[in-house]
Amino acid sequence: MDVAVVGVGYVGLVTGAGLAKIGHRIVCIDVDKGKIDNLNKGLIPIFEPGLDELVRAGLGEGSLTFSTDLNEAVEASDIIFICVGTPSDENGAADLSFVKEVAKGIAKAIDRYKIIANKSTVPVGTTRLVERLIEENMPHPHEFDVISNPEFLREGSAIEDFLNPDRIVIGTNSQRAIGLMTELYGPIRAPLVITDPASAEMIKYASNAFLATKVSFINAISNICDTVGADVKEVALGMGYDRRIGFEFLKAGPGWGGSCFGKDCRALIRIAEENGYDFELLKGVIEVNEAQRQLIVSKAGKLLGGLRGKRIGALGLSFKPNTDDVRDSPAISVLRKLRSEGANIKAYDPAAMKNAGDVLGDIEYVSDAYQVAEGSDILILLTEWDEFKWVDFQKIKSLLRKPVILDARNCLDHSALRKMGFTYEGVGR
Ligand code: UDX
Repeated sequence: MDVAVVGVGYVGLVTGAGLAKIGHRIVCIDVDKGKIDNLNKGLIPIFEPGLDELVRAGLGEGSLTFSTDLNEAVEASDIIFICVGTPSDENGAADLSFVKEVAKGIAKAIDRYKIIANKSTVPVGTTRLVERLIEENMPHPHEFDVISNPEFLREGSAIEDFLNPDRIVIGTNSQRAIGLMTELYGPIRAPLVITDPASAEMIKYASNAFLATKVSFINAISNICDTVGADVKEVALGMGYDRRIGFEFLKAGPGWGGSCFGKDCRALIRIAEENGYDFELLKGVIEVNEAQRQLIVSKAGKLLGGLRGKRIGALGLSFKPNTDDVRDSPAISVLRKLRSEGANIKAYDPAAMKNAGDVLGDIEYVSDAYQVAEGSDILILLTEWDEFKWVDFQKIKSLLRKPVILDARNCLDHSALRKMGFTYEGVGR
């Protein structure tokens, strides 16, 4: 099928490359000409395992192209995906200006029946809003359907998530649209949840808010574990065997981060408020998350007997492993707090140092875990990159001024480290 993907951000690029991979002809559109020129040369603006290969394969086969010409792309396509950003405004509500802009642009070029599928995370009711904008801005009347098709990609495993999703959600009341969307996703084996637009929009918010709740819940439990002498990893394991609970998203740590959870939780609280419901539970989830970041700072202060003038060695800057993304990264906010309390910071991350430099600025960046340890008063592990699990801790011990490790991700072998003579502190263990 011929498909246009409007907005070549994270979701747009993965969607375009993924749809090309399963046999469709895709044109990806963006207003940023520099970005489009680079993509046509195979230069990918984001770090995502497997995405380079997929984009280059699509370019090579001619099934994936990049352009700034929205009109031409809409005319050539049966389905048009809206994948533009919906940043939070100052009140936490999703800012829909890009979505509205694109909807008007699409309207002007509609020349026959089309599906406009929204993948951006938007408040309930936006499908209807886009429908109205298209109706009002279409120069000649044509049939069209606006549907909601939310995306659940995780950074670091987005290609796998696209090609092997847990489910595909399609929100529309139009049989014609259901038929075409089913054909589009035909090569992907996954349960189809076909529902009304409002429910589809709500599924996306509810899913992210639930996942954030799960992590905040285990973090709250970890705080109690810390004082009663239980190990939160054991607790999570024992809980996870219950199939109603499951093992995923029960890792205690410095709190959740990234570009979605905070934004979507705040937007859902706003949506609830506007509809007369005070979503206190979700407000608590955010509070627990903020306290968790502060907890890591307090633990460091306790281990060091104060922070002023202390040398902190930090492992990890991205909001989770296998990404260079530092948006709302717990590592960054912990380091900011440590710095503001007078500590000196040296850090290493396998992929995120450039991005961290842009937001965190002036700390010392080095090129491996050993350089981080050298001369530091404490080693704090903030993001659980695999390579940190395999460093030579005897060597680390000889390089640190004092053998103290704060494992904010609970990913190191605490008994082995204690046997080696480290003072080990985790989260809830
Ligand atoms: C999330 C959703 O998972 C995805 O479906 C949606 O489309 C976008 O938002 P992402 O932001 O890439 O994806 O990250 P995710 O893997 O969900 O992790 C979010 C945060 O939670 C990270 O900071 C991670 O470290 C943290 N987390 C996750 C924990 O602290 N503990 C856990 O057990 C799981």
